Amino acid sequence: MRFGENFLDELKARIRPSDVIGKYVKLKRQGREFAGLSPFTNEKTPSFFVNDEKGFYHCFSSGKHGDAISFLMEVDGLAFPEAVEKLARDAGMEMPKADPDAERQAARNKVAINWMDAAQTFFQKSLRRDVGTEAREYLQSRGLTGEDAQRFGIGFAPDSFNALREELIQQGAKTEVLIEAGLLIEPDDKSRQPWDRFRNRIMFPIHDPRGRLIAFGGRAMEKDAKAKYLNSPETSLFHKGRVLYRYPEGRKALSNPKNSARGLIVAEGYMDVIALAKYGFENAVAPLGTALTEDQLELLWRAGPEPILCFDGDKAGIRAAYRSIERALPLLRPGQSIRFAVLPEGQDPDDLLRQAGRNAMETVLERAVPLVDMLWQREVQAAPLSTPEDKAGLKDRIYAALREITHDNVRDQYKTALLKRFNDEFGYQSGRKSFGGSKRSRKYIPANQKGEMNAGAIIAGREKLIIGAILEWPDLLDHVDDSLFAFKFSDSHFARLLTAVLSYQRRTNMVEKSELYSHIEAEGLGTTLKSLRKDRRLIIAAMGGSDADLATRLAFWNAEAEALLGNNQVDDAREDARSRMADTIREDNAEGLKKLMRASRRNRQN
Ligand code: UTP
Ligand code: MN
Repeated sequence: MRFGENFLDELKARIRPSDVIGKYVKLKRQGREFAGLSPFTNEKTPSFFVNDEKGFYHCFSSGKHGDAISFLMEVDGLAFPEAVEKLARDAGMEMPKADPDAERQAARNKVAINWMDAAQTFFQKSLRRDVGTEAREYLQSRGLTGEDAQRFGIGFAPDSFNALREELIQQGAKTEVLIEAGLLIEPDDKSRQPWDRFRNRIMFPIHDPRGRLIAFGGRAMEKDAKAKYLNSPETSLFHKGRVLYRYPEGRKALSNPKNSARGLIVAEGYMDVIALAKYGFENAVAPLGTALTEDQLELLWRAGPEPILCFDGDKAGIRAAYRSIERALPLLRPGQSIRFAVLPEGQDPDDLLRQAGRNAMETVLERAVPLVDMLWQREVQAAPLSTPEDKAGLKDRIYAALREITHDNVRDQYKTALLKRFNDEFGYQSGRKSFGGSKRSRKYIPANQKGEMNAGAIIAGREKLIIGAILEWPDLLDHVDDSLFAFKFSDSHFARLLTAVLSYQRRTNMVEKSELYSHIEAEGLGTTLKSLRKDRRLIIAAMGGSDADLATRLAFWNAEAEALLGNNQVDDAREDARSRMADTIREDNAEGLKKLMRASRRNRQN
């Protein structure tokens, strides 16, 4: 780091953010803050605030925030040292004497970057030439055209130990520089020539947050290659924990006023990011094969307040999500969080987009759950919860997690939310009679606090209840058929199962449950059916118990259905319909409910 901490502290103490920012934005004092029109969007009412006491600005319309330095970086496109220099000059501060070692390193880096650019040109050319025929075919098999390759700067490293070296040496490069840049591998036996690190691989260029080409990721084309992906080694330029793949592009896409996303989408691999961008999610990035680091989280938040982390729905994916929680808790700040999107098991965004299209991905993203829900899920699933001791253990875990949150106000909010949740699910229950069913059975329905608390597991659970109840009481279908079609199940087996039930119902008017089940089995959905039937008792309980009448079941079913639909809730008309629906449910009015569901479905179609 070129500037010492003291220098930066002194600088920050001397400047007033409102003075610096006031040169770009017309600011008006508003109590302790200044307000103005966002320089990042074309808004009509001011939602851009500068707080001198705290030394930062916050832009509610774009989600950007930072101090005077990052503001200059943002609006003037300056690099950090440039912004600092400019501010120091304006504040009349003497610049610290340049550290000669650091200067020398910076100069070397500049040279290395030039050769990285030359290597990139070579890889891209190789992809277009004869040597790249197989590589082009491989890309095509993965749905990427020549245009895509161009757009994403994809190249090809020929199957040779010296093709790149010879090309660059011929252009005037020095061997040591190419080794330092990670392009060549130096043999232990120094009398031998260094050789090309990347051979017979599809090459993905990796840029630092300032847009400089600092590394490559290379994907092997053969299925049985020793390493599927090979990345540049850590160099003086490239620290993989401080970089996100396609961050400059992702951040830029997000700063476009037309983009309404609240943050970057974080996938796991290069191909996922490319598929996402190709399908219109240009605000996508990925770490480089490791769990997210603190530096990477900070990068994400520099681009937007609420990045969405995508995870595979399998065990490894969930574990990775939990690890990110651990990293994120100490860094949470007001208006700075993360959400989690859980993909269907075994699929990454690339698979999902290519198999099911943009809408499927959109649904996954819409269903992304807030950190607080994911945290709750993690603690609940960590251990059994049957005895009082078990429950006390859960409370201990909640407190341990709370201690990880360093920001006081954020911690307070988490405490309130999680303890409320604890009490709702496990606390003392008063004698208030809930609608339909018994108190006990009600407990099986996860609390739905106006959609704030929808963990992935809760959504999955809801889908299970909805489809499982239909299997238990197929006659429910006669009353709810309209609304059913509005679902997009996150589990594709459930969607297919529903189709099977409906087609059977249309054909036969549903005579016998056992016949229905054989039909489902004949459709190849026996396993799904079996797994749903395993939870039969839970489903019955959640629908008001085995002796509940049709109206009660319908009320429970509709409440679940609406909660699920509510996750995709957008417009006011639907919000209104939902609240009327809730009132009707409270009155146990099954007939009125059915009417409302119809009306709500019509609304949705309009
Ligand atoms: P995945 O193994 O999940 O592969 O690696 P992927 O992204 O789906 O790749 P395709 O679709 O098979 O091409 C995810 C990320 O982990 C890193 C890479 O950054 C990759 O994009 N990785 C993976 C490595 O660094 N080395 C490896 O051997 C494998
Ligand atoms: Mn993949």
